[in-house]
Amino acid sequence: MTTPNECPSWKKLQNHYHEIKNLHMRDMFASDPDRFDKFFLSSQDIFLDYSKNRITPRTMELLMELVRETRLQEKIQAMFTGEKINSTENRSVLHVALRNPADKPVYVQGQDVMPEVHRVLDKMRGFVHQVRHGEWTGWTGKKVRHVVNIGIGGSDLGPKMVTKALSSFNNDGPEMHFVSNVDPAHLENTLKKIDAETTLFIIASKSFTTQETMFNARQARSWFLEHAKNENHIERHFVAVSTNTDRVRQFGINPDNMFEFWDWVGGRFSLWSAIGLPIALSTGMNSFEQLLQGAHDMDNHFRSAPIESNMPIILALLSIWYTNFFQAQTQAVLPYSQYLKDFPAYLQQGEMESNGKSSTLDGNFVNYATGPVIWGEPGTNGQHAFYQLLHQGTVMVPCDFIIFARQPEHNDRQHRLLMANYLAQTQALMTGKTEEEARQEMNAAGMPPDKINKLLAHKIFPGNRPSNSIMIPELTPRNLGKLIALYEHKIFVQGAVWNINSFDQWGVELGKQLARAIEPELDHDRPVTSHDSSTNGLINLWKKL
Ligand code: F6P
Repeated sequence: MTTPNECPSWKKLQNHYHEIKNLHMRDMFASDPDRFDKFFLSSQDIFLDYSKNRITPRTMELLMELVRETRLQEKIQAMFTGEKINSTENRSVLHVALRNPADKPVYVQGQDVMPEVHRVLDKMRGFVHQVRHGEWTGWTGKKVRHVVNIGIGGSDLGPKMVTKALSSFNNDGPEMHFVSNVDPAHLENTLKKIDAETTLFIIASKSFTTQETMFNARQARSWFLEHAKNENHIERHFVAVSTNTDRVRQFGINPDNMFEFWDWVGGRFSLWSAIGLPIALSTGMNSFEQLLQGAHDMDNHFRSAPIESNMPIILALLSIWYTNFFQAQTQAVLPYSQYLKDFPAYLQQGEMESNGKSSTLDGNFVNYATGPVIWGEPGTNGQHAFYQLLHQGTVMVPCDFIIFARQPEHNDRQHRLLMANYLAQTQALMTGKTEEEARQEMNAAGMPPDKINKLLAHKIFPGNRPSNSIMIPELTPRNLGKLIALYEHKIFVQGAVWNINSFDQWGVELGKQLARAIEPELDHDRPVTSHDSSTNGLINLWKKL
């Protein structure tokens, strides 16, 4: 398989980078009044302006060549047709099947998985209806008022992010809580807010072996039994979402109360499966199905749009351009929506667990950069925290700005303020402020020359800092589904070009292994000497404290 830096286009891109690296976007806009139209895309009601990037038409041509030379289209086809592209775990990667219509077969090893997918969706629909309509009650006959999802990583971040994003669609649904951290404070503080009689616990774990989740689940069960005093009541208050029926049964949850998914769904791509049960309970099954429909719309776009107008491909190529040629090590995701507060954290797992890899699919080490650090916060909060560095720091951070054109609250004045900030920030990052402009500004404000000279360097903004602007008409379940799938496919394209496996996560194993070895050493008072001096020193300090 080809590594990207063996492709002819890679060398051309390196040369091209040297040709254009000193061009300023200000000048590019000044010399080309059509720049916005040239670098603007819309599909499925998602609008992407990527004109404020350090690119020319030639950059995009060369990046498209890279895509062709790394045989992206074949790789897309392989994913959608169920080939085992997660080669280190010998698995297909088919989260796209979870949002596929029932009558379009998707095969895994010769078997159509769609009947199973829709059987579980039907089961979810029935359960969600019962819970939301008070037909499924707790042991004292009371309606479910609280749902506590216990899970971590993909079994937490996706459903939590979407549940919050769609919280305004929760019409009389239960209050949702998410417990992930093994820090006892997380569960304990949640239990203080609920009462056992009206609480449903969802134990969400693909493997049903994850230490943190199993620990929290056992603690939650003990707490519940302290109140209910009868194991038979567990049935009304604990359900599971997993691929592992045996473990669910061993835990004491009736497999009838289990919602399955399959090993071809990666944890960080699982919110479309029964892992999305909290979303469905909170917003209703219709909204959940709209979310799936939106993702399917984006799947269709990704699969069929030519690369020049394929939004996930364009976003991925821009990210590769900055990572591999400008050596940018981080990228920021900045939603101008309080509803998308958890979107950056969700994408951190999506991108960093997928593309934070150093070995190629053929088992060699890469000699080029792969996945960048992803981080972010909602605007405008971020503006008053870290944007200083974005504007005047010494590193370049490519940014994605995301906003909904309309808001459910209909507070037009306040939304206009949010919009003005969204627009102003990308403009400021792009244009910056020259020495001349800074000087004139201070002059006009009547500042004495000696003060101007003292302040001048501080008032200059270099600009030329790249950003994508994503605009979506409004936050609906369907549009949110499109947005999430857009990033999922972007992640896929990056991994495909970098020739890495975006679907395994061996890097999380070592820490788990070592924690298993350390935990018993914390059980006694004797000093520990079996590790390096730092680890021993910290263990022994902890014992003393
Ligand atoms: O440790 C990483 C990881 O395996 C993630 O990939 C996954 O989303 C998370 O743990 C939770 O795993 P599970 O759903 O099996 O509990």
